[in-house]
Amino acid sequence: MIFRVLTIFPELFDAFWENSIIKRAIEGHHISAAAVDIRRYTSDKHRTTDDRPYGGGPGMVMKPEPLAKAIQAAKKITPFSRTVLMTPQGRRFNQSLAHELAREEGVIFVCGRYEGVDERIFNQYIDDEISIGDYVLTGGELPVMIIIDAVTRLLPGVLGGADSAEKDSFSEGLLEHAHYTRPRDFEGDRVPDVLLSGNHQAIEQWRTETALIRTFLKRPDLMEDRAFTAREINILRK
Ligand code: ADE
Repeated sequence: MIFRVLTIFPELFDAFWENSIIKRAIEGHHISAAAVDIRRYTSDKHRTTDDRPYGGGPGMVMKPEPLAKAIQAAKKITPFSRTVLMTPQGRRFNQSLAHELAREEGVIFVCGRYEGVDERIFNQYIDDEISIGDYVLTGGELPVMIIIDAVTRLLPGVLGGADSAEKDSFSEGLLEHAHYTRPRDFEGDRVPDVLLSGNHQAIEQWRTETALIRTFLKRPDLMEDRAFTAREINILRK
């Protein structure tokens, strides 16, 4: 999968590409990722990417020409990519949108800055707008890192355990079950006996039970639109 990030702060991504799972995914050729400076596509001496808004008002607007040129150049490398503008006005990012993006050949992310981008960029150049939540950040760079992180770990072969991503929170519409590791006794709080029993069926049942209870207590909204399986109903009945 190919990620191209169009930004006026490409250096913000240096540490991101060079650590942890993302670094491994690049080295293992699961993803190709690069941040491209939009200023490369300006033509004036000051390399201007923004200007005052027509009609007046506060803030600056990102100019359309450098953005269009940067997108065209990125499309040459990845013609079948989806071009996504990061903006608080976009569709809300969640795990199902992460799965949707993971099926693309590539994604070109455009990081908005200032008050917004010139409206005329939307017609021909932007396929999708994505927001990571109902709050306003100073730019789209952090949201892009969040999305690349969430998408990359879903790609086949990126995570160590074969099924680590399949058992994620949200993948079955529930939060994850409780986890324990050594020691058996931590400050008087003991690991539940069932996890030490070696009875895999009982362990699976206990995990589903804790996932249901946690979701109900912490995120009841997730329960609202979800149909329960017969197995879950039996566990809930107990
Ligand atoms: N740019 C500024 N705020 C944002 C948000 N919440 N999501 C995505 N991009 C943004």
